Amino acid sequence: MGADAPRIDARAKVTGQARYPGDRAPADALHLKVVFTNRPHARLLRLETAAAEASPGVVAVFTSADVPVNVYGLTLDDQPVLIGLDTTGHSEVPSDISRWEADHLAVVVAETPKAAQEAAAAIEADWEDLPLAPDLDAALASDAPLIHPENGLDTNAYYGHRIRKGDMDAGWAAAAVIVESTYELPHQEHAYLQPEAGLAHVDEQGRVTVEVAGQWAHEDRLQIAKALDLDEEQVRVIYPPIGGAFGGREDVSVQIVLALAAYRLHQIGEHRPVTTTWSREESILGHHKRHRGRIETRWGADADGKIVAVQSEAWLDAGAYNYTSNKVLGNCHLAQAGPYEVPNAHIDSHAVYTHSVPAGAFRGFGGPQGSFAAEAQMNKLAEALDMDPIEIRRINAVRDGSIGITQTPLPDGVTLTEVINACAAEAATASPHQSSFSPFASLPAEPTALLRGRGFACSYKNVGFSFGFPERCEAGIVLHGGPDDTSPTSAEVHHAGAEVGQGAHTAFLQMAAEATGLPLDAVRGDFSDTASSGDSGSASASRLTWMAGNSILGAAEEADKAWRNGDRPAIGHFRYVPPPTEALDPDTGVCVPNFSYGYVAQFVELTVDRDTGHIVIDRVVSTHDVGRVINPSLLVGQIEGGVVQAHGYTLSENLHVADGRVLNPRLSTYLIPGIGDVPTTIDSLVLELPDPIGPWGARGMAEMPMMGYAPALVAALHDATGMWFDSFPLTPDRVLEALGT
Ligand code: MOS
Repeated sequence: MGADAPRIDARAKVTGQARYPGDRAPADALHLKVVFTNRPHARLLRLETAAAEASPGVVAVFTSADVPVNVYGLTLDDQPVLIGLDTTGHSEVPSDISRWEADHLAVVVAETPKAAQEAAAAIEADWEDLPLAPDLDAALASDAPLIHPENGLDTNAYYGHRIRKGDMDAGWAAAAVIVESTYELPHQEHAYLQPEAGLAHVDEQGRVTVEVAGQWAHEDRLQIAKALDLDEEQVRVIYPPIGGAFGGREDVSVQIVLALAAYRLHQIGEHRPVTTTWSREESILGHHKRHRGRIETRWGADADGKIVAVQSEAWLDAGAYNYTSNKVLGNCHLAQAGPYEVPNAHIDSHAVYTHSVPAGAFRGFGGPQGSFAAEAQMNKLAEALDMDPIEIRRINAVRDGSIGITQTPLPDGVTLTEVINACAAEAATASPHQSSFSPFASLPAEPTALLRGRGFACSYKNVGFSFGFPERCEAGIVLHGGPDDTSPTSAEVHHAGAEVGQGAHTAFLQMAAEATGLPLDAVRGDFSDTASSGDSGSASASRLTWMAGNSILGAAEEADKAWRNGDRPAIGHFRYVPPPTEALDPDTGVCVPNFSYGYVAQFVELTVDRDTGHIVIDRVVSTHDVGRVINPSLLVGQIEGGVVQAHGYTLSENLHVADGRVLNPRLSTYLIPGIGDVPTTIDSLVLELPDPIGPWGARGMAEMPMMGYAPALVAALHDATGMWFDSFPLTPDRVLEALGT
């Protein structure tokens, strides 16, 4: 542990031998096509599948009539599995209404992808288009159509949080400066390399078995079992190699439809496995996005730079279904106050249904939106007070013993000041790469047009599930050795934690070797199969290394006890449960929201060409307290990957969504950074200040690079141009228009 163990999946992935969910179908597999409704808001009047069923090569067409329980959702059951007229398996959520262009209408199974495609085109549907509320303004209007009237509310703002802390009047009275802004936050598409895909069949034991990419195998199993009205033991979920997730696989996509098809085919005597792979367009249309939203906020500070009041109101566009919006909203809610001691605060946050693409988990889970507003406000306060932006953060930063924004103490081990100081010191060293544009960028015609600036931001992000959501992680360790061996000669680790490309399984083996005292090559893994591993919780919330590490430590201890009892093999199983958290009080927000945090500070240095609006990031210092490094290369990979993802979010990724439709669902028109676009230099600076309850002191870090980059970049652009940008992405046309050249 602490060394660069090679990734256990590296060879298979770089040689192309790794078999991702779309690569696993045997030659005789049937091909499944999910038919989208292609209607942002409409009532289904007629659905006719006879022509599709008669189409050459078609084996079956499934509709809502085939779904035992036609409603699902990760945290709220508000979405029909299939839109349809049949009321079998009906729920309170009307299934004859399409609320999203990528709602699922039918599932076609055929001998070939082409036959499935042709049959899908033969499905006949008549619709009555209904009034649209496709964005926040439309959905919040007094005469807006209700998107989910079945929930009994008279507004589309279906979920909210409050914070009421201190005395706002006293706060404003103490303010020497007040800054007030409205921030507009954009969508972001996950753009993982591997589109949604999978393979399903019913095994010899009658279990509906689905090989698919997700972030929480046991949760996928639960959602499949509920929709098919089966016991969880009748469903098996296996995760093969997964090509990226970033929160975009927290909710299910093809899981239920694949399972449904395998289950129904089996009942009619068709036992061949069924597979599907979404196109890039289907992937971008068909899964949720990072929330777009709006934050109106007003901050006051006294003459010494102490924050005296924060008033903030946020609206996140949840789209047509909740996905994890209710949970994402909680993180956004806390992040609006920044990682600071705030004596007086009045914060309201709302999740709003719209007839648009659902929004949900994406690296940072609501944190980046709140953090953008908070950090922009801090940089504006520093400017208003003519104060150093780093100094004002030192004055206000949370520290050990601080009372958080929810009026309870933060967990011990608050290291924000150390992280800020380390980042500031590193940023002050001369950059070795001061030489303007990267070699890939087009050369500026007029060098005097180049303006340079530097910016800073810091943040924190919870590690683990928040607000009372049940947290746990299970691990199994089996120690092998002969009856005469005094210590084990090898071990197996059983763990469901998802390897989504971040290197989790390599880290698990490193931690298991450390915990058992065995060399790394004597430890074997059995991963991500609900049939052989306990519930690990998700690969999300920067929690997996942290939670898995604690579960592996416990399992190793149990296995060691069994070994000393003489058991051969010696089996240890452990379910780690962290300190409890609490839901926000509905009136005041008072609660213990989280049990652990990671701390981050980011410095950005840029050049902007005022003739073209083109921005190049010359240098980033991304500083992270990770508590204890498990694998340095994987760690730096996470930081650099996160910075690049944040870079795309801030500069180029521009999802066009209008009238309930995503207009650029392709990677040729939705621009993630290429090698010529990324920051010229990324300095990953790592501190190891232990989390008192982290495994070996480790902290979570996966989402932290996403937290401060956008506001640091905007501060650098302000430094360069004198202008504040309160919305992004900062595409060249927008920058140019704002600069008015
Ligand atoms: Mo994550 S955004 O907690 O998958």
